Amino acid sequence: MSETAPRGPVPFGPVSYDDSGALCLSGTPLAPLAARFGSPLYVYSGAHISSQIQRLQNAFSALNPLICYAVKANMNTHVIRHVASHGVGADVVSAGELRRALAGGVAPEKIVFAGVAKQPAELEAGLAAGILQFNVESWAELEALNAVAARMGKVAPVALRVNPDIDAQTLAKITTGSRGNKFGLPFDDIPALVQQMQTLPHVRLEALAMHIGSQLFKMQPFNDAYRRLADLTRHLSSTGTELQRLDMGGGLGIPYAPEDGDGPDPVDLAAAAVEHLAPLGLPTIVEPGRFVVGNAGVMIADVVYTKESYDHRFLLLNAGMNDLMRPALYDAYHHILPLQHSNTAPVPQELAGPICESTDVFAKQRLLPPLAEGEQVAFLTAGAYCAVLANHYNGRALPAEVLLTGDGEGGTEAKLIRPAVSDADMIALEQAQP
Ligand SMILES: Cc1ncc(COP(=O)(O)O)c(C=O)c1O
Repeated sequence: MSETAPRGPVPFGPVSYDDSGALCLSGTPLAPLAARFGSPLYVYSGAHISSQIQRLQNAFSALNPLICYAVKANMNTHVIRHVASHGVGADVVSAGELRRALAGGVAPEKIVFAGVAKQPAELEAGLAAGILQFNVESWAELEALNAVAARMGKVAPVALRVNPDIDAQTLAKITTGSRGNKFGLPFDDIPALVQQMQTLPHVRLEALAMHIGSQLFKMQPFNDAYRRLADLTRHLSSTGTELQRLDMGGGLGIPYAPEDGDGPDPVDLAAAAVEHLAPLGLPTIVEPGRFVVGNAGVMIADVVYTKESYDHRFLLLNAGMNDLMRPALYDAYHHILPLQHSNTAPVPQELAGPICESTDVFAKQRLLPPLAEGEQVAFLTAGAYCAVLANHYNGRALPAEVLLTGDGEGGTEAKLIRPAVSDADMIALEQAQP
């Protein structure tokens, strides 16, 4: 926001208003991109992604972990390629994400494969690619992996994913490391399981893995989890099982609102890892997703209609929960800014989409300048867990995606990295079936 603006919403992260009042992402005005590529539109800043990776690499320099970008956060192959150009690996959870990681240029030996219900064909794809490790979450999966590897004449590298039963102190719907979650293996069962694994000749224990949840702001849960990981590693070592590496998972939070400030500092996360894991002297892996891409993205939408209903003022947008699902799915907050700055006093408004669902509401009583039909807004922090969740509900298109490449200092190029996938494309697929 320009310093002269007396009130109204403030931008944060790589988003700012220029002197003409145009909202920009890493210095690139957004309105011309919507004019060129259409709306709704996702736009990602390559420069911001690069600087987040740099922050992680600097913060973790003492441990020098393998950074495996969690592809689930944003699976566009161009985004993956940009991330991989920094020497980063990938954390995938399906054969589809594995294919995407490979298509994005990630080296197979930098790929970890997580997920609770990997099917034999997916295990086979991972083995055929020669990935670094399978993060295994049940005895049944170990048996399935052993069978697939035996058929292929291979030995599968395994990390056992431990559920440390820790409260991640984040949104309940994105907690993964507590008792009652479907993820991981019970902490106390691991030593017996390690013994039992010796009956499976086609799997080899190489690591332990953990991931306790997403969008964590507090360091205490990480500290507790890493301490437990270290304790278990020492216990296994004392009983003759030496591991080759430890996988710390992802989960570092990012700001979604101006009052979140800069969000948690990766330096503090690294300090927790150094305190608990460095004394073990093992190579480590970290699996950030949201931190890498979250604030790099925005979604642009148009106001189609405004309406007053009882005492509410509605802004009805051309984007709905099918385009950006996090508010409907987790009651998540996204900061929303007009593409053109206005000094008009903000008023409470309801921002809703066109979908025939009552949950298709992005924000209630949001203070914004009164916007008119044809004006545009940007949803901030839309780089992670947004475009990946888009769907065709109500016969709608998947929105297009654009990546800003270059240095953000005038050398920027806007590249269409996925055109909108229209309903006509879906109809053609359906009609192609006999
Ligand atoms: C196993 C695993 N690793 C990494 C991540 C990435 O988490 P985040 O995007 O919060 O860093 C997730 C996401 O939930 C996950 O399930």
